[in-house]
Amino acid sequence: MTKLRVGLLFGGRSGEHEVSISSARAIAKALSADTNASKYDILPFYIQKDGFWQAGEIAQQVLDSGAVYQSSVTSPNLWQFPPQTQEVDLWFPILHGPNGEDGTIQGLLSLMQVPFVGSGVLGSATGMDKIGMKIAFAQAGLPQVKYKAVTRAQIWSNPCVFPKLCDEIEAELGYPSFVKPANLGSSVGIAKVRSRQELEAALDNAASYDRRIIVEAGVVAREVECAVLGNDQPQASVIGEITYNSDFYDYETKYTQGLADLLIPAVLPEAIASQIQDMALKAFAAVDAAGLSRVDFFYVEATGEVLINEINTLPGFTATSMYPQLWAHSGISFPELVDKLIQLAIERDATAAGKS
Ligand SMILES: Nc1ncnc2c1ncn2[C@@H]1O[C@H](COP(=O)(O)OP(=O)(O)OP(=O)(O)O)[C@@H](O)[C@H]1O
Ligand SMILES: [Mg+2]
Repeated sequence: MTKLRVGLLFGGRSGEHEVSISSARAIAKALSADTNASKYDILPFYIQKDGFWQAGEIAQQVLDSGAVYQSSVTSPNLWQFPPQTQEVDLWFPILHGPNGEDGTIQGLLSLMQVPFVGSGVLGSATGMDKIGMKIAFAQAGLPQVKYKAVTRAQIWSNPCVFPKLCDEIEAELGYPSFVKPANLGSSVGIAKVRSRQELEAALDNAASYDRRIIVEAGVVAREVECAVLGNDQPQASVIGEITYNSDFYDYETKYTQGLADLLIPAVLPEAIASQIQDMALKAFAAVDAAGLSRVDFFYVEATGEVLINEINTLPGFTATSMYPQLWAHSGISFPELVDKLIQLAIERDATAAGKS
């Protein structure tokens, strides 16, 4: 039997470069596990932080060592893809954040006419942009926190507009509220604000990261997550919970060992758990996700309310990440999970627009 050559695409130009390397290492290990080794060959492709693509030995070295690599010579042409791209039967992109999870890479892979794991352009872009995502969720009838979309131009361009904008935010959302760049991820540029002064500073800071900014009413809630797997008939996993002692689940808490704990399964009333699973599947469909997603929620225990926070179409995939762990607790091992994702990519490609 000829093996399928899987192009494992990792690294990338986002703040989650290092997480991507860890995810790729875990996936490579799973693709080499007994059950998968006879089916798949791995072709590693590493995107440096400057955007340059490395294949062959250098990509393999990053995969083996886990260490970031940056060529000392800057390439004049980032668009020169390594010749090994021609040999790929199926792409497994495991890039998080901008330029990886937002539809850009998915557009490139679509143009290559090779099947790839995960969501297409629409699902990725909608899932990444917190404003677009919230509009899709509202349309699907999913409850969420009150929010207001703001642009960089409103914050920076006209000194008369800004105070009025802050008045509106205060009146509509109150304090505390959360100011977020719409397209970053990993809690980068996110601030919890409790006063006018903090609001103004956070808006200015968020505008330095993104043209699109969202401000949300703060809730006091437990943070619970559900994994989704599938295409047109997706499945939802058991629910997991994230606990931490910091003020909120910020960048430091997320990526410092020992500051946050995952609890699987989350201890929840059965009706709440099934409501969360149902909402996760609706969210997956609402943004047109495919293959995999992790859907994050706020469970306001005091009122019994479940609010959707966000969908992540390429969630962290390290050995200890929530997504694979939720499936492990739902009866699907890590090697089985990557195998299923590849099969789902093939299935989706076969029914893609223009092919059916
Ligand atoms: N409206 C809110 N009320 C209470 N806490 C919030 C709210 N919004 C965000 N938070 C806190 O901030 C954290 C990060 O926010 P969010 O999940 O929206 O962004 P993100 O994690 O950067 O996005 P991504 O998961 O795509 O990387 C949440 O996990 C939560 O702890
Ligand atoms: Mg989040």
